[in-house]
Amino acid sequence: MTSQPSASGQRPGIAPLLGLIRPIYHRYLPRLLLGFLALLAVDFLQLTIPRYLKNGVDTLAGGTATGHSLLILGGYILVTAAFIGMLRFCWRTLIIGFSRRLEKILRNRLFSHILEMDRPFFDRHTTGDIMAHATNDLSAVQMACGMGMVAAADALVMSTAALFFMAHISPTLTLIAIIPMPLLAFCTWILSGRLHKRFDLVQEQFSLLTEFARNTMVSIRLIKGYTREHQQIKDFETLGREYVASNLKVAFIQGLLFPVATLVGNTGMLLVLYFGGRLVINNAITLGDFVAFVTYLYMLVWPMMAVGWVTNLAQRGLTSLARIYRLLAAEPLLTGTEKPDNKPQIQSFIFLCRNLNFTYPNGVAPALSGVNLEIGPGILGVAGRTGSGKSTLCRLLTRQYPVAEGMLFFSGRDVNSFTPAMIRKQISYVSQQPVLFSSSVGENISLANPDASLDEITAVARLAAIHDEIMEMPDGYKTTIGERGLRLSGGQKQRIAIARALLADRPILIIDDALSALDTETEQQVFAGIRTRLQSKTVLIVSHRLRLLSGTDRVIVLDRGRIVDRGNHQQMLDRNDFYRAMARKQQRKADA
Ligand SMILES: Nc1ncnc2c1ncn2[C@@H]1O[C@H](COP(=O)(O)OP(=O)(O)OP(=O)(O)O)[C@@H](O)[C@H]1O
Ligand SMILES: [Mg+2]
Repeated sequence: MTSQPSASGQRPGIAPLLGLIRPIYHRYLPRLLLGFLALLAVDFLQLTIPRYLKNGVDTLAGGTATGHSLLILGGYILVTAAFIGMLRFCWRTLIIGFSRRLEKILRNRLFSHILEMDRPFFDRHTTGDIMAHATNDLSAVQMACGMGMVAAADALVMSTAALFFMAHISPTLTLIAIIPMPLLAFCTWILSGRLHKRFDLVQEQFSLLTEFARNTMVSIRLIKGYTREHQQIKDFETLGREYVASNLKVAFIQGLLFPVATLVGNTGMLLVLYFGGRLVINNAITLGDFVAFVTYLYMLVWPMMAVGWVTNLAQRGLTSLARIYRLLAAEPLLTGTEKPDNKPQIQSFIFLCRNLNFTYPNGVAPALSGVNLEIGPGILGVAGRTGSGKSTLCRLLTRQYPVAEGMLFFSGRDVNSFTPAMIRKQISYVSQQPVLFSSSVGENISLANPDASLDEITAVARLAAIHDEIMEMPDGYKTTIGERGLRLSGGQKQRIAIARALLADRPILIIDDALSALDTETEQQVFAGIRTRLQSKTVLIVSHRLRLLSGTDRVIVLDRGRIVDRGNHQQMLDRNDFYRAMARKQQRKADA
């Protein structure tokens, strides 16, 4: 389910937040300055229009107007409007373009940062969380740095200038006219705040809706299998209803915002009509002044609305920036020495666990305790009931979780003295649930060696006993698999993952129960393939199938995170009750 971005932790101060975007402003400073210059020019040109109007009206009232003079005036206004249009285009491209670039830079940083994170991070943050950061929060920052900044600058320039010109015509009338303005700013602040809150709700409900649809599609077989279609449709309809209701509330506030603004704005107009009209009657100002004044007053309405709107945009932008900041500030728990001068050399491919204890960051009981074990060279089999810590051991060896100092050694040194990537580069790892990409079969196999030739790919596919099945696929090794392509069986996926690991040809191979979906015969065939390819290398195989472990050099049995027995397969059969019972059960099944 999609959830709101996690808002855990204290909100960082304003200085580090601005520090995040300041370099981007610096980088695009000339562009921004040019944009603001264009914006300023637009405002200036807009402010000249009432002066043309004043001249026109005054000549009309004074009886000096001719068709020609009015035409020239109209021409001026038209040319000014054309310039305004052109300059508007300029500032929009420059400033809004800047905000889009800023969004892109932050998005790329976020993406590469997320890729650097380790497994504990992904245990903590759901995909929905991360997606919410990458969409809603980034767009809130973009809005604040784009339209928000423009509106703030525009409002400042326009209101100052309009007020200046109004005061130039009549200071008293200006004071009277602006009485309702603070009220206008207050109303838009309240209403746009509500609007944003409702809008957040709409977005949240929209992501719930899409997530629900996505989830349904992903588990469509399960849903059909348990005939849950009607319930799913009903749930979807409920979500859809809530989404519409929230949208209607947004429309309601939006509908309210402009009439309220116009009403308050027009209160000022009423005052100007009454008091300004009297000034015209008393000849204190000309009719043209009056018309110009009214036009300036109209120009003041938007900046006053903008004050409320911009305050909200800035608040939202800062909150979102704080969330992005917190995500970027998250450090992987797994770190290693990156200093090139004391980079340790890898001498051997042997792991040593010395009284290894491990508890998951969010776990209560230890998943491994007091494990003493040497891994490599040769094939080590790992058996044990479900939840006994087999996968945990594989995850620690592949450096997915942090391990305390002095417990796990690689090549004679503490694993913490290597970077995680240095160790991972030595390991081909096939996890319990192999992951395939939506690309061709060949590309999936050559993931770690993109330059591998087709011959090399077919060779490992043969070893993994999957070659014949691939040749039967519509486009052979070019067949697209995954979400939009061919669906593979669990066993096919496992063997493709094995072929990938064999092709990577690294000194260490770790297979976490990744032959489970194969029948016994295929399993033996694949195992034989692994053996020919990996002689004298370090191999760790986790398996529930004890027959498979008969081909290993050594076997350990895990129970509740502890090694309860070790020896070879035959010794285990002779003396370990769990092992024997399980082997008998599997033999009976095979015979049946
Ligand atoms: N990400 C995690 N966070 C917290 N606890 C976990 C996590 N993964 C596994 N555990 C716990 O650690 C213990 C060992 O799990 P592990 O996956 O290593 O078992 P396993 O031997 O591989 O089991 P199986 O045979 O079912 O694959 C279990 O109690 C499990 O609940
Ligand atoms: Mg497991």
